Amino acid sequence: MLAIIGGTGFAQLTNLKITHRQVLRTPYGEPSGPMTFGTINQHEVMFLARHGYGHTIPPHEVNYRANLWSLRDQGATRVIAVTSVGGIRADLVPGTLVVPDQIIDYTYGRNFTYFDGKDKSVTHIDFTRPYNEKVRQQIIAAVKLAGEACVDGGVHAVTQGPRLETAAEINRLERDGADMVGMTGMPEASLAKELGLAYATIAVVVNQAAGRGGSRDGVPLETIGTVMGPAMERVRNILECAVGQ
Ligand code: HPA
Repeated sequence: MLAIIGGTGFAQLTNLKITHRQVLRTPYGEPSGPMTFGTINQHEVMFLARHGYGHTIPPHEVNYRANLWSLRDQGATRVIAVTSVGGIRADLVPGTLVVPDQIIDYTYGRNFTYFDGKDKSVTHIDFTRPYNEKVRQQIIAAVKLAGEACVDGGVHAVTQGPRLETAAEINRLERDGADMVGMTGMPEASLAKELGLAYATIAVVVNQAAGRGGSRDGVPLETIGTVMGPAMERVRNILECAVGQ
């Protein structure tokens, strides 16, 4: 079954015909909210709002382990994560959709693995390609089907938040090779991999990163909302095309 994780500006999947909601518990605590089950064009889908349905959980306090665990527990095999990012590369202007293919993780202090605790054998996962290529291609095909455009590939830097970055930090991320920056891509992607879930992300550029273009003198937080609304509507249409893939 397909699971969709909605990010900021995407607390509801309005085109989902809801059948039921379920409060779930996991060995890692509670997920961000009740799981919403339903169908889109007769295809079964489950939906979880990463920051809670009232958008109250900041990126560093999301229980990523409980979220991913509950998705798999409920039968998800494929996960499409929606996330908003700041554009570092000059062409990644607000409103651009990106399907990243790489990650650099700058987060810290988050519960980032299932493979810890005493008396467990040491387990490593291969993370060379952090996103599932098949799901990436399904998203890209859905983008085309929806009559939209996206950037295929890009390096997704994930910072700790909740503050935005300094201009110097963005310069460093660029030198590191990052094209875009968000706060929730990790440990979500690696936890999905640890659980064997086929996971990929559609990133929505909602601002230029600190010190770049329109954010030269500060990130215009007040305009993010106006970019996000219509962009997330486009993502909803794309997801409608993705469920049948
Ligand atoms: N930085 C980090 N995370 C973000 C940004 C940003 O500029 N925009 C949206 N999420």
